Amino acid sequence: MSKKESSILIAGGGSTYTPSLVIMLLEGRERFPVRKIKFYDNDEKRQEIVAKACEIIISERAPEIEFEYSIDPKSAFSDVDIVMAQLRVGKYAMREQDEKIPFKHNVVGQETCGPGGLAYGLRSIGPILEMVDYMEEYSPNAWLLNYSNPAAVVAESTRRFRPNSKIINICDMPVCLEDIMARVIGLKDRKSFETTYFGLNHFGWWTSIKDHEGNDLMPLISKHVKKYGYTEQTQKGQHKETSWLETMFAAKELHEIEPEFLSNTYLKYYLMSDSTVDHANKEYTRANEIIDGREKFVFNECTRIINEGTAKDTTFASNEHASFITDLACALTFNTKERMILIVENNGAIENFDSDAMVELPCIVGKDGYEVLSIGKIPTFQKGLMEQQIASEKLAVDAWEQGSYQKLWQAFTMNKTVPSTQVAKAILDEMLLVNEPYWPTLK
Ligand code: NAD
Ligand code: G6P
Ligand code: MN
Repeated sequence: MSKKESSILIAGGGSTYTPSLVIMLLEGRERFPVRKIKFYDNDEKRQEIVAKACEIIISERAPEIEFEYSIDPKSAFSDVDIVMAQLRVGKYAMREQDEKIPFKHNVVGQETCGPGGLAYGLRSIGPILEMVDYMEEYSPNAWLLNYSNPAAVVAESTRRFRPNSKIINICDMPVCLEDIMARVIGLKDRKSFETTYFGLNHFGWWTSIKDHEGNDLMPLISKHVKKYGYTEQTQKGQHKETSWLETMFAAKELHEIEPEFLSNTYLKYYLMSDSTVDHANKEYTRANEIIDGREKFVFNECTRIINEGTAKDTTFASNEHASFITDLACALTFNTKERMILIVENNGAIENFDSDAMVELPCIVGKDGYEVLSIGKIPTFQKGLMEQQIASEKLAVDAWEQGSYQKLWQAFTMNKTVPSTQVAKAILDEMLLVNEPYWPTLK
């Protein structure tokens, strides 16, 4: 029997991550054959630049693959096996607001953490549910693999409002950090070992890392993290700009408070919020760095490819982000039973944590979806932090569902990055004004 060839829709076709994802799909054709690549976005002009460049890349490297792009949901979502979603609702202009408004009040301003992440959540829920509905209407057998952030809030909303839909929410941070861990102890990549991890999205810990012979690698990796965090000598990997290196180095401090485990870097925003605020450039945040950096690079490079009519010498390349989502698509299509960290409903996998919480855990992925691995009981320190964070995320989804100002004020207040009810309210009131086109009306 010949191997199935899939039709892939990239939703958020105008994303800065799209060219590397397309290149990954082309390079990975042997294990994951593709017959069609489609793009969907609601910004026609933005998508067109990326699409025209990708059309050239595809025609030069795999002319047998069909390619289409559209802003029309019916034409985009028809004849699709896998949707790979990476929407940024409100784009970089709104990310800038998510970061700058909290900083004005000396609170962490971040894409997915604290009030900025919750604000982004309230913008994203509606369009993500709409995307699930398009998929179910036009390609009812397809899977939606969702990277769109803030993944924690998005996942709680899909759990609550689309409980039977074929959607899997994912994050690339664990795999990116695992690749770093592998490199710093002289191994090729994350596939050289097997890990156990638990937590929420952007809020978790590794409890075990063992090679395929069962040898414990935690002591060696911890030795590195104790000195250098997750910084390393090589330029390999996605998160290499100065601001990311500061975050990678912060893992050293996170290791001091929890030396038994290895921490996800995102815990920095909750456990080191004071130093994060102190060191931040509050007028020029990460959004500005990307507008002047990655976004500019991607759109300049696409324009260059279009003008020259060739992508032969392009520096676009696949990365961990692209390889992880392709591994997942491959596991679902070919029943590979790969072990992957996904954002899933707890349902007892963490014994002493809410069963209806969306947690991030190792799963075994095959044709019928995923099986979540049992973690047992987690310690008091992690459990307490996670309870506060999940409550904040659930309150934000309550606020969206009920159109409730009060619930969103509680969500902000509950968040560990926020010091008081009054600071929460001041940030919320400023955010309300700029999010008016995106949020439901809050009463
Ligand atoms: P980007 O702004 O470059 O791309 C996002 C695209 O989504 C834009 O082209 C925009 O027009 C489109 N879009 C926005 N709202 C839409 C809607 N309602 N319908 C259709 N398209 C819509 O952003 P980016 O930096 O490339 O990031 C894309 C997304 O991927 C973000 O949400 C980012 O946070 C997320 N991301 C997640 C992970 C993860 O670990 N989960 C990793 C990397 C990126
Ligand atoms: C990691 C996270 C993503 C997040 C990204 C931000 O990869 O897993 O969820 O979107 O970092 O990176 P950026 O370069 O946009 O700040
Ligand atoms: Mn992530």
